[in-house]
Amino acid sequence: MKAPASKRHIPTRAPTRPARIERLPEQYFGALLARVAAQAAVKGEPLLDLGRGNPETGPPAHIIDALTKAAERPDVHGYSPFRGLPELREALAERYRTHYSVELDPHSEVAVVPGTKTAIVELSLVLAEEGQTVVLPDPYYPDYPSAPALAGARTGLLPLTPSRAWAPDFSRAPAEDVAAVYFNYPNNPCAVAVPDGAFEQAIEYAHATGAAVVHDFAYGDLVFDGREPRSFLAAPGAKEVGVEMFSMSKSYGMAGWRVGFVVGNAEIVERINLLNDHCRVGIFRPIQEACIAALTGPQDSVAERRDTYQRRRDRVLEVLGPMTCEGTFYLWLELPEGVTFESLLTEHRLVVAPGEGFGPSGAGWVRLSLAVSDETLELGLERLSRAL
Ligand SMILES: Cc1ncc(COP(=O)(O)O)c(C=O)c1O
Repeated sequence: MKAPASKRHIPTRAPTRPARIERLPEQYFGALLARVAAQAAVKGEPLLDLGRGNPETGPPAHIIDALTKAAERPDVHGYSPFRGLPELREALAERYRTHYSVELDPHSEVAVVPGTKTAIVELSLVLAEEGQTVVLPDPYYPDYPSAPALAGARTGLLPLTPSRAWAPDFSRAPAEDVAAVYFNYPNNPCAVAVPDGAFEQAIEYAHATGAAVVHDFAYGDLVFDGREPRSFLAAPGAKEVGVEMFSMSKSYGMAGWRVGFVVGNAEIVERINLLNDHCRVGIFRPIQEACIAALTGPQDSVAERRDTYQRRRDRVLEVLGPMTCEGTFYLWLELPEGVTFESLLTEHRLVVAPGEGFGPSGAGWVRLSLAVSDETLELGLERLSRAL
């Protein structure tokens, strides 16, 4: 009989870790959750969490119904097609046509991936040779640096600065041996919609340097004050130089379902599909069918979600004063002297996302989330105004 796991011999000298694992940076969100759990165990008022970017409400009933009905069928439990259901790729292409005025060939220009977090890493693996540079915006989404690290690429920075309304400054980005440039609008963490000209400048940069463009559209539908969602692929020539990641997580509150897409340049889409042919099989079919229901069914929930975040944004501005927030469900806030992530956590029992994990320019900043209940937001704002 096998010994129970706890009694089994654990080797004391593990084989050396491969360099690609050693290169990985600290996992920001894992470390943050551990720090918060440790503080929660310290006696005091319950912690209030305005740090998480996890949608607080799930998808509407018709999407869940599609999942449960499909799961009851006997024919859905085997392996599903490697490259996703054709109907799902068609549904996504149709959404791009009707919502973002972009034509996509569902067969060659749409890859289905298990969440765009996965695609963030895979795109560096399929675009960069070891030693080339992958350029990331600064500030960046904290999972971005893992991608060049795993690919054995160098990391370069594309500055976004408050004085330029967080527009990317391509003139200050590396220009030599750049394999890819990543950026994301509506921007996490800066909470701005895409500035005029940014997509066009990215395309010019791609032509000048040979870099592929990776635009992360995770918050695409969450833009406020009457703005229309703007896809990178709607910019003339975008598809020749790059791809966009679209996620089901934020538009539909389906973050736990793990479905996303890489769309655009057919060669890059094919490389992502090829990598995935070797690493995994298709996503559970009922999930794909429910995603079709989400993309092709009523879209009221997307607008309601956006309006809820806009209403909460207004409330934050009412309490804290003027700040830029044009979309996403975040606010990017520079802390005054003497106030830090640690002081908010330990003295005020308030969790925010510390800016240090968002790149060199994030020091002294924090990200607040609106993806919390109204009640949590109110209580969090009370503690924050006291602290500030
Ligand atoms: C900018 C950005 N990109 C990508 C992701 C990952 O999203 P997904 O759930 O599709 O993996 C997130 C999640 O918070 C994000 O904020």
